Amino acid sequence: MYICPICKQKLNILGNKYVCDKNHSFDLARQGYVNLLPVTSKKSLNPGDNDLMTNARREFLAGGYYDKLLNRICTILKENEVKILVDSGCSEGYYTRQMATVCQEVYAYDISKSAVKLASATDKSSHYFVASAFHIPLKNASANAITKIFAPDSPKEFARVLSENGILIEVIPAEEHLLEIKQKLYENVYLNKVEKAEKEEFEIVKEERLKYSFTPTKDGLDNLFKMTPYYYKTAKSGENILLTSETFSITADFILRTYKKSNNFTKVKYCKKIIDNYLFNDYNIIG
Ligand SMILES: C[S@@+](CC[C@H](N)C(=O)[O-])C[C@H]1O[C@@H](n2cnc3c(N)ncnc32)[C@H](O)[C@@H]1O
Ligand SMILES: [Zn+2]
Repeated sequence: MYICPICKQKLNILGNKYVCDKNHSFDLARQGYVNLLPVTSKKSLNPGDNDLMTNARREFLAGGYYDKLLNRICTILKENEVKILVDSGCSEGYYTRQMATVCQEVYAYDISKSAVKLASATDKSSHYFVASAFHIPLKNASANAITKIFAPDSPKEFARVLSENGILIEVIPAEEHLLEIKQKLYENVYLNKVEKAEKEEFEIVKEERLKYSFTPTKDGLDNLFKMTPYYYKTAKSGENILLTSETFSITADFILRTYKKSNNFTKVKYCKKIIDNYLFNDYNIIG
């Protein structure tokens, strides 16, 4: 399943290391994850979500506020009889752990080492690794499905890693997601801008919206705030207003999209293959 992030050759397990034929070697950590993010592809010392955000995410999600979303994702995986799943941008593994109960094998990665460490310490049934969605160290056509839940998009890499009939499941915030938090923090509140379902490599198969209200406890609200970008954009005074107010009802508003690989994309790849073969086998006929 894994390929070397440096030379792209197959990685073999040797004791507690993954090693490629060129001898690039990656240790399996005590918690069970492997770090496949080369230092040279890091843009900062500790990329991705930090400990504060990851711990807040873990605490908040444990409150069950997003379980409706989790259940819906698991149903989609079951309906599609997904065997090998890759969870991209998995963070501390809340969705991953549950998705592992409905798929045969789950591989999950995040660019944040501390998040992957936390995920792998609690979930021994999934394979966790540190990596970037823009250079996924997995073989071509090795997965039946990829989930991208509030995580960065990387359609070219997703299309490469997915098998021919593989699906991409994307979860993004819909217009009113967490609207009431914004109303507490800001004077002028805009609805969230929803990304278009346009990817050159994929065709949309299904789009659904899941919208409901939940009322978090004070701790729940504190954690929710800390796991969102609002925490970093908000002045202390705004934070105080939010965290000292009585508990209030908040809108959860999600869009779930299922994509399959685009026919055009598969066709282009297929034509290229034929042309490559043709050029290779019959090059003396051309011209
Ligand atoms: C909003 S969080 C969502 C996490 C998780 N899917 C969830 O919903 O609980 C986004 C995650 O994407 C990760 N991330 C950011 N850039 C990434 C990249 N280039 N490759 C992989 N993960 C990345 C962050 O570290 C963070 O854990
Ligand atoms: Zn290598």
